[in-house]
Amino acid sequence: MKAILTFMRFSAGSLLLGGALTLGLYGLTTASNQSWADEDDDDDRYEYRGSGYAREPIPSPGTSNADASLYKQECGSCHVAYPAKFLPSYSWLQIMNTLDDHYGDDASLDDASRAEILAYLSAHSASQHSRYLRSVSYGETPTRITELPWFQRKHDEVPRRLVQDNPEVGSFSQCDACHQRAAEGQFDEDTVVIPGAGRWDD
Ligand code: HEC
Ligand code: HEC
Repeated sequence: MKAILTFMRFSAGSLLLGGALTLGLYGLTTASNQSWADEDDDDDRYEYRGSGYAREPIPSPGTSNADASLYKQECGSCHVAYPAKFLPSYSWLQIMNTLDDHYGDDASLDDASRAEILAYLSAHSASQHSRYLRSVSYGETPTRITELPWFQRKHDEVPRRLVQDNPEVGSFSQCDACHQRAAEGQFDEDTVVIPGAGRWDD
């Protein structure tokens, strides 16, 4: 009996100790993360900061006055100019840094246009809209909206026949083939008309 009691006390004690240690460690990592983030706040503000809800918000040029016009003009010809809020800023950075090999196309731009578009995208990215960031896992840099879990969940009832095998759509990347008001950033279910299938009713 005494042995059991001693054992129980020992277990309770080590649980408490373990808890204290964990908290202590947690405090340390949080503190060091903060100082690490503070140090290089201003220079490379588009740098990758580690993704994930927990680490956001990442610094973004909130003072940027770049507007959407250049973005829509340069990035809205082959597909709709996707709303910036659907990808984190580090994804936009990655996309803007690899325009010469853009999903198999060459979408290169001069440096000044790239910088202005990136400033706009970054300031309006998912990093400012935590709702869309929640779908991005830690350490990931997604470069497709159509591969994000929320996107796939919303579209999993749309059959291939109406998308890839539909000459009037071709792929999910052509948002405006189905979302009649995609160019205005409006994606409500009741504005969806899939070519060849009529108004969506689920
Ligand atoms: C020359 C044509 C062209 C231009 C210009 C262009 N893109 Fe694209 N983009 C594509 C193609 C092709 C795809 C792949 C579409 C597919 O898979 O069906 C794509 C896909 C994308 C995707 C991924 C969409 C998804 O599936 O979620 C993003 C994001 C994107 N482009 C951003 C941009 C940005 C930002 C610009 C402007 C700097 C731009 N695009 C300009 C051709 C272009
Ligand atoms: C083949 C047609 C089609 C294409 C292409 C398509 N969607 Fe959709 N989308 C739908 C349908 C249908 C729904 C409604 C699903 C449901 O019943 O909930 C939907 C729902 C959505 C919703 C949720 C709306 C709401 O009210 O909950 C968003 C956001 C969305 N789509 C964004 C996009 C974006 C961004 C693109 C392009 C990258 C895209 N979609 C491409 C058919 C499409």
